[in-house]
Amino acid sequence: MASQSSSSEKGKEEERGKGKGKWETCGRSEREASHLQNPMPLPPINDLTCIVTGSTSGIGKEIARQLAESGAHVIMAVRNPKAATDLIKKWQEEWSGKGLPLNIEVMELDLLSLDSVVRFAEAWNARLGPLHVLINNAGIFSIGEPQKFSKDGNEEHMQVNHLAPALLSILLLPSLVRGSPSRIINLNSVMHYVGFVDTEDMNVVSGKRKYTSLVGYSSSKLAQVMFSSVLHKRLPAEAGVSVVCVSPGIVQTNVARDLPKIIQAAYRFIPYFIFSAEEGSRSTLFAATDPQVPEYCEMLKADEWPVCAFISQDCRPTNPSEESHNVETTYKVWEKTLEMVGLPSDAVERLIEGEEVKCKYGASQ
Ligand SMILES: NC(=O)c1ccc[n+]([C@@H]2O[C@H](COP(=O)([O-])OP(=O)(O)OC[C@H]3O[C@@H](n4cnc5c(N)ncnc54)[C@H](OP(=O)(O)O)[C@@H]3O)[C@@H](O)[C@H]2O)c1
Repeated sequence: MASQSSSSEKGKEEERGKGKGKWETCGRSEREASHLQNPMPLPPINDLTCIVTGSTSGIGKEIARQLAESGAHVIMAVRNPKAATDLIKKWQEEWSGKGLPLNIEVMELDLLSLDSVVRFAEAWNARLGPLHVLINNAGIFSIGEPQKFSKDGNEEHMQVNHLAPALLSILLLPSLVRGSPSRIINLNSVMHYVGFVDTEDMNVVSGKRKYTSLVGYSSSKLAQVMFSSVLHKRLPAEAGVSVVCVSPGIVQTNVARDLPKIIQAAYRFIPYFIFSAEEGSRSTLFAATDPQVPEYCEMLKADEWPVCAFISQDCRPTNPSEESHNVETTYKVWEKTLEMVGLPSDAVERLIEGEEVKCKYGASQ
């Protein structure tokens, strides 16, 4: 009996973790990312409103442009509004004569400031419009740099890659519910596989672990998978909000800006292994638009699977790290994150019920 149930559990695990069954890889290729079309053809998305953080460079820039060219209303949520405005001008000129002008706008958001996150969310929610897709793309990997802290006192990788996007996702729930079925897509990384989160020391300051940028980056990405898994479970199916983490692959972008020049130069000689930003945008665009994704999330929820959906660079569901299945740590990460971003522990439930929730940040602005 025991072996029967464990073998059926194993079968389910394969279906969930490896994407067996009726899952079609971007509806196009079943094997490797190299067989995916580039750029990825998108379904009609004229009725979608999408916020893309960090869309002034790299993968986010590609995501924003392609969503807008496919008809979506895109909000570039960026720390450098002038750069985004210049990009929009350029894209409108290039698009001229191919269709209606792109429906794209800029809003300021600096993830190194939790006040800025709250201000952004308040400004967006005040429109009382729907939000269909939130893409938490902005991220940093300050390779080889000394440990730095935000003005909120958090280690910068932890704040930009995990805490600020977590706060943004929760504060935007009223708009996401209004836009349901809707999705929160988090640009994660295979580096979460080597991550470890000490919930007593999220900012790596106790001295128990030596800080390196790799520790900062990988912990922040693992914390994001863990937090997303609890958010996925806490959101009732009726809310219609799917939570997905995505790996873009290894992508040549400004993320390597802090690498020594010689390694940056070496990047250019190995294009077979390294995606362009356009290629790296595919798994996110897939997660944001493919109709199979919410169904898959619902299946995971119904099966009480311990982790949220994780989509690989070849647009297939994959199993996140073994550590991300550690339920005890996952719930501690959830609680600690809410505490660090200044939200009450029942914030999600109250926002879903339409109640107001006060955040410690943003009030004085
Ligand atoms: N490239 C890869 O190989 C790779 C692999 C796995 C995962 N990822 C993930 O993919 C995402 C995008 O990375 P990328 O490779 O496209 O890097 P990128 O070219 O460096 O772009 C990162 C974007 O994030 C923005 N950003 C950084 N700090 C910010 C802040 N405090 N507030 C608001 N925006 C901020 C940047 O703004 P500015 O333009 O103003 O600098 C930029 O637009 C990240 O989450 C990264 O961890 C990348």
